[in-house]
Amino acid sequence: MKSVNIGICGVGTVGGGTLNVLRDNAELIAARAAARLQVIHVGARHDSPACDLAGIRVSRDIFEVARDPEVDILVELIGGTTVARELVEAAIIAGKHVVTANKALIAEFGNEIFALAEKHGVDVRYEAAIAGGIPIVKAMREGLAANRIEWLAGIINGTGNYILTEMRDRGREFADVLAEAQSLGYAEADPAFDVEGTDAAHKLVILASLAFGMPLQFDAVYTEGITELTTQDVGYALELGYIIKHLGIAKQTDEGVELRVHPTLIPDDLLLADVDGIKNAILVEGSAVGPTLYYGAGAGAQPTASAVVADLIDLARDVGVGVSARLPALGVALADLRSLPIIPIEKVKTPWYLRMEVADKPGVLSRVASIFSEQGISIEALIQRAPGQGQTLVSLIVLTNKAPQDSVDIAVCEIEALETISGKVTRIRVEALDG
Ligand code: HSE
Repeated sequence: MKSVNIGICGVGTVGGGTLNVLRDNAELIAARAAARLQVIHVGARHDSPACDLAGIRVSRDIFEVARDPEVDILVELIGGTTVARELVEAAIIAGKHVVTANKALIAEFGNEIFALAEKHGVDVRYEAAIAGGIPIVKAMREGLAANRIEWLAGIINGTGNYILTEMRDRGREFADVLAEAQSLGYAEADPAFDVEGTDAAHKLVILASLAFGMPLQFDAVYTEGITELTTQDVGYALELGYIIKHLGIAKQTDEGVELRVHPTLIPDDLLLADVDGIKNAILVEGSAVGPTLYYGAGAGAQPTASAVVADLIDLARDVGVGVSARLPALGVALADLRSLPIIPIEKVKTPWYLRMEVADKPGVLSRVASIFSEQGISIEALIQRAPGQGQTLVSLIVLTNKAPQDSVDIAVCEIEALETISGKVTRIRVEALDG
């Protein structure tokens, strides 16, 4: 049987998992790839006691791997965007296919990297960059290829989902759960990437490009984190029949494309609402197939290795039959990507959950209602909590019909200026996810 030679740069968690999967499932992988996948060269700046590198050449200079004429496919697992980009580009120029788990690299520099790969007749695969082990790239690029993708919505950061689940089920506070997620190793090295939505934005922009056939536009994603969420709002949402999830949403509309990551109330009877803990899930609406849901582990050594090795098997088959560019990186040839307008977040229309702390006095409710009415915002539901013993403020929770953010901004500004309102109005978008 033919061998395909692999070089791996970075032998941390995912690198170790990849070596394990390649070794443990060597026979079935060889059968599926029609080739033996041999790791012949590893680039690692430090030893990794968890990885057995016996019989594998190890270079401290990771660029040695990119220069190794024996390596057919380079696996980039070092993370970051500076050295990782140089490494990937060096490998491409040297005529090697590349597999990467690096979502930031693809989201921010994918357009340039894919163009370089096209020029040199090699492929760059990135299944592991989005939602760990869930084969969402394969599903979208191949399984749903017959469909026009209308929209997608995903829980694509496990750390954030774990935090929200703990806040809802155990009433725990945000900071407390984040500290635990860090100690369990779920969070990014800088957990701000998880809780402020950057990690999800990286993944969303790649999914959107695959969905709509457009170039990657990371800077165009509206990103809002979950750091301001309180257990109080999580509880009120539950009372109203909603679960709060941190979603990445991409929608194609007549006006353009919506690209946004933010906390979202979703109906509690949706399957997506049941995706708890560190799990990821992506709901994709195709024009022919309707809604489809992809669920699984979004991080971790073995799940991410599952995606890395799936890409290696695909590429090994291509190497075996001497083809490249069988699957364009973003689903269509780069020249056929369409530049679609991105709708500014101020103009994106959604229903809203708004909570305000108001004085328990006659006339307050009618004043708030008239401000909404003046902005053309229609109220869908409203609840008011009776004041606690000795308290003068009550929580007023309003669910609106669809309204653009700029109208809500004006209404909120006017409401916050009322003497009968205390503090800021909390606002969270709502999505029915039904079309
Ligand atoms: N920190 C990420 C998460 C890891 O929590 O989902 C996978 O990208």
